[in-house]
Amino acid sequence: MSQDHESLENLLQEDRFFLPSPEFAAQANAQPDEYAHANMDRLAFWEEQASALTWEKKWDAVLEWQAPYAQWFIGGKLNASVNALDRHVAEGRGSRVAFHFEGEPGDTQTITYAQLLTEVKKTANALIEIGIKAGDRVAIYMPMIPEAAIAMLACARIGAPHSVVFGGFSADALLSRIQDADAKLVITSDGGFRKGTAFALKPAVDEALKGQHNVEKVLVVARTKQDVAWTDRDIWWHEIVARQSAEHIAESFDAEHPLFILYTSGTTAKPKGIFHTTGGYLTQVAYTHKVVFDLKPETDVYWCTADVGWITGHSYVVYGPLINGATQVMYEGTPDTPHKGRIFEIVAKYGVTILYTAPTLIRTWMKWGDEFPLAHNLESLRLLGTVGEPINPEAWMWYREIIGGNRCPIVDTWWQTETGAIMISPLPGITATKPGSAMRPIPGISAKVVDDNATPVADGHGGYLILDQPWPAMLRGVWGEDERYKETYWSRFNGIYFAGDGAKLDNEGAIWLLGRVDDVMNVSGHRISTTEVESALVSHEAVAEAAVVGAADAMTGQGIVAFVILRSGIAHASGDELNTQLRNHVAKEIGAIAKPRQILIVNELPKTRSGKIMRRLLRDVAEDRVVGDATTLADPNIMKKIAEGLKTAKDED
Ligand code: WTA
Repeated sequence: MSQDHESLENLLQEDRFFLPSPEFAAQANAQPDEYAHANMDRLAFWEEQASALTWEKKWDAVLEWQAPYAQWFIGGKLNASVNALDRHVAEGRGSRVAFHFEGEPGDTQTITYAQLLTEVKKTANALIEIGIKAGDRVAIYMPMIPEAAIAMLACARIGAPHSVVFGGFSADALLSRIQDADAKLVITSDGGFRKGTAFALKPAVDEALKGQHNVEKVLVVARTKQDVAWTDRDIWWHEIVARQSAEHIAESFDAEHPLFILYTSGTTAKPKGIFHTTGGYLTQVAYTHKVVFDLKPETDVYWCTADVGWITGHSYVVYGPLINGATQVMYEGTPDTPHKGRIFEIVAKYGVTILYTAPTLIRTWMKWGDEFPLAHNLESLRLLGTVGEPINPEAWMWYREIIGGNRCPIVDTWWQTETGAIMISPLPGITATKPGSAMRPIPGISAKVVDDNATPVADGHGGYLILDQPWPAMLRGVWGEDERYKETYWSRFNGIYFAGDGAKLDNEGAIWLLGRVDDVMNVSGHRISTTEVESALVSHEAVAEAAVVGAADAMTGQGIVAFVILRSGIAHASGDELNTQLRNHVAKEIGAIAKPRQILIVNELPKTRSGKIMRRLLRDVAEDRVVGDATTLADPNIMKKIAEGLKTAKDED
């Protein structure tokens, strides 16, 4: 660790900063006294934010904290779907557009709050007919279509925690998540549209359900109308939902009732089921969505490009924006279909005012060229956001100039599946932003950068990012794995939440995120564990051993590089064919997002005398650096051999 710690100290100097315009500052939802107000009494501040929600019963106590277990708004009762929908309709906002849906082929739907509420009520009634009760888990495996949000809200409405599995994950990955959460129902679709064609999802569900599980029914949305195999277990969404009553009186649930489980990669092969509860989570997603994105629900058109399969889609497509009554854009497809200006065309079409996306997409746009954004009128934009990985200052500047016309504040928001909501971010009417920095914790949140001994570092120094006070949207645990919860997050620094990220404070105390310090990679803003990819590779018959590292990648942040030792004595493919086989095998085990960028066949791996693979050295090789200190290796010559192997492989490319 200390080696990593030193490298964290080694940082760039960035002197540019950008103040919000006086006009933006004057109208901003969060004014400069927001921080002092929150600091005066943190718990009273969060109570105030919670009061913005509709509660059937007010809480008796704001927080009970017995590290690492938090309960927020104890005794309070509310319903997530009522907060997202019913109250807007009841208060006369039913005709406001909730979603402008844009399908990849160009089909569109305009869905008002009143219509969305009706659909959610009918779907909730359908779930009840199927036999789903409060507390039952429902797996959702869908493309980015309105029914994905409807399914989540219908589950929330009846108190059935949803577990959304990203549609790009494989059947195996889906099965393991179904098993872990012991889901009773799967909601899916025949498929979706991506890159100009219809892809299939239902076959992956059928494949997954060949394994052990307690799934009783599969609810299927007809999105593409492609042919699907059908069993007794399957129900068409349009058939069962259409015949339901449009009335459904929602029951309120305890503030600590589980709202959802979302799996994320950890440092072992098995993903962790991060689970969130209701009252605290909704409080913080709604508050952050209001102040970080400065939402003006009557006039803004907000677009978060995240898929509902990730936490950003949960917090900033479904729950936060709908609670705040936002009008949103939802887009099904890829940014380059049918042309590389698709996102900009949609911004212009709907007059998007707030755009929230990932650095990897911004870098991709930069590579494609300025002509695509410049061909569209982006003047409606007034605020830009990023999330998911550190944004390099060049990409930040490009985003500001080319997309934001030098007029839009940028909010670089740091948070995690585990934190549930934004934790570190500029406030757009207040903060003088620096290109590449997430700046400082939002009001009501405490984050610090500390050294190996949990002592806060001075300005100008690097260390580990920790959260030293409980926060309303924090994870309540790892589903069914309490020891793992304690071990993963609370043991590195006793009783303090360790996020797994390295960070630096600059000379003015602004926070610069430096990426993960554990064995988790960040590829295009998606978390993938090195161990998960290693175990996928080792499950291929040709592979004896594998070591995986995340190597710096100009486009995706990190790229997956695998070092593989082959099994001897069995016949297997070689060269390019083997390479393709192994990459496809990883896609089958996990999903296409986990396919290694590069696979290197080696004879040995660098290991310490105690047998631990030294990934740091492999990273040096993968990133073309001089290999660092290798003196603790059992065989000091090994790195030379691997580096030579890599050179030969590159020459052959
Ligand atoms: C990284 C996504 C730098 C970080 C919401 C974190 C970031 C992980 C930023 C969580 C940011 C997220 N700057 N790094 N603004 N936002 N990260 O769970 O390493 O998919 O630990 O949540 O993404 O990824 P997750």
